[in-house]
Amino acid sequence: MARRGNRPVLVLHGPNLNLLGTREPAVYGRVSLAEINRAIQHHAAARGARAVCRQSNHEGELVDWIQSAAREGFQAIVINPGAFTHYSIALRDAIASISLPVVEVHLSNVHAREEFRRHSVIAPAATGQISGFGSASYLLGLDAVLQGPMARARAGRRAPRRATRRAR
Ligand code: DQA
Repeated sequence: MARRGNRPVLVLHGPNLNLLGTREPAVYGRVSLAEINRAIQHHAAARGARAVCRQSNHEGELVDWIQSAAREGFQAIVINPGAFTHYSIALRDAIASISLPVVEVHLSNVHAREEFRRHSVIAPAATGQISGFGSASYLLGLDAVLQGPMARARAGRRAPRRATRRAR
């Protein structure tokens, strides 16, 4: 359970990200997931926030965490859905069904890679997307929720659900 009142943010890592450090280092670098999680937690603490990091190789477990995030007291989610980015309608629907701000992050620049990585089924349901800055993508994602939607929510204004909502 995330304690309320200290800007708790849930950081989710999808499949194969447990292998960071040894997995395709030319693409994803040599920093391990444990090191990334320490950097995320340090970055959050320096900004008066608190990050709880979880990783799963299982779609349903990620769906469960997204569904229970608000109930657990989290105020925002930063998620790297890994390969689920490109085809998981279940993750996309879970994100669309909650009202917390959700930032999608990627270590690599998915738009500069293979064709199948250029499409995200998650992006239309997310508040925004950060891609291509290595492990710093997570820190930028954290800054995005802390300075954007969460800051506005604290100021008593309603956070916009999506950055790309069309004007009518
Ligand atoms: C990734 C990009 C995805 O295409 C890939 O399947 C991953 C990692 C990234 O962080 O760059 O597992 O999400």
